Amino acid sequence: MRYTPNSDRYQQMVYNKCGNSGLKLPAVSLGLWHNFGDDKPHHLKQQICRTAFDLGVTHFDLANNYGPPPGSAELAFGRILKEDFAGLRDELVISTKAGYDMWPGPYGEWGSKKYLIASCDQSLKRMGLEYVDIFYSHRFDPDTPLEETMQALDQIVRSGKALYVGLSSYNSRRTREAVAILNELGTPCLIHQPSYSMLNRWIEEDGLIDTLDELGVGSIVFSPLAQGMLTTKYLTDVPQDSRASQGKSLNPNFLSKENLEKISALHHIAEGRGQTLAQMAIAWVLKKKQITSALIGASRPEQVVDCVGALNNLDFNEAELIEIDRFATDSGLNIWARSAELD
Ligand SMILES: NC(=O)c1ccc[n+]([C@@H]2O[C@H](COP(=O)([O-])OP(=O)(O)OC[C@H]3O[C@@H](n4cnc5c(N)ncnc54)[C@H](OP(=O)(O)O)[C@@H]3O)[C@@H](O)[C@H]2O)c1
Repeated sequence: MRYTPNSDRYQQMVYNKCGNSGLKLPAVSLGLWHNFGDDKPHHLKQQICRTAFDLGVTHFDLANNYGPPPGSAELAFGRILKEDFAGLRDELVISTKAGYDMWPGPYGEWGSKKYLIASCDQSLKRMGLEYVDIFYSHRFDPDTPLEETMQALDQIVRSGKALYVGLSSYNSRRTREAVAILNELGTPCLIHQPSYSMLNRWIEEDGLIDTLDELGVGSIVFSPLAQGMLTTKYLTDVPQDSRASQGKSLNPNFLSKENLEKISALHHIAEGRGQTLAQMAIAWVLKKKQITSALIGASRPEQVVDCVGALNNLDFNEAELIEIDRFATDSGLNIWARSAELD
């Protein structure tokens, strides 16, 4: 059925200014890492994206390698852009990235100019776009001069293939260096995309969060639900259709007794606030002034509705924050840590 967007979509969402830029992002954004590959039916992807847009989620995040197979999420989103979001391009902020393994040989991953420029062209083709709003270096490359990676980002903007650039999973030190190079080139860094949640607080320890504040760079934090662990779904069992059951990025060993006890305690705090645990997890990352947007994933449209419901209660009192801190401790979930540590 033809899609007509909800006319009230801009009434419910909160839009935050991204760092020092003029771009505003929705407080909740949708990522297409999981659930948009060829292993899922198209109508489900369509319903997830339509539901998000109807709730004011204007930002959709992709990467060259999202699938499976790699590239298929961009192809699926390209079809949604054509069939559902036709005529809405100027209401959307679309991002993509390059950095992880995409094609065979020495030019199919990391941070060389050769790889980034070719990958950007491929992503645009898959999505049927003339430009993306944000193009990211997906991870720091210890074997390519940072100047080269940043020159590639600058060139992508200058050639009209992206409006803004971003960094993902770079640590505080490398972020400072990259931002300085980009400033010199005249293409400021819009945004940083690190992992961050109540169970994965590396950006506080590393100092990245303060660095971003100081540099005026916005941030969109990924996996704010710790890939679904910060919901009630794993408290009794591992549901059959859940991410932990799929042998993908959510290692079932993460569901240790100790982690489940923390999740259960956090769930009780959320209940006391009249929120679901997913909603509290999102509100908690958004309470930091440096965080522009919480980048969620969803396997069903109802999950998007639940997550956006976080905006109904974004405030925490001091006692709640202290109580949350007792259980919101690092839980060994940061599978992207190596990208941040490579220096
Ligand atoms: N830059 C990077 O290196 C990088 C790395 C990872 C992710 N990302 C970006 O961040 C996005 C989000 O990552 P993520 O998918 O790990 O985020 P997440 O929001 O932490 O986890 C999403 C998963 O949680 C479950 N879920 C979501 N809402 C729920 C709700 N209300 N109730 C119950 N369960 C719920 C679903 O899992 P089930 O399938 O179990 O239902 C869903 O697939 C990605 O799509 C991608 O765009 C970037």
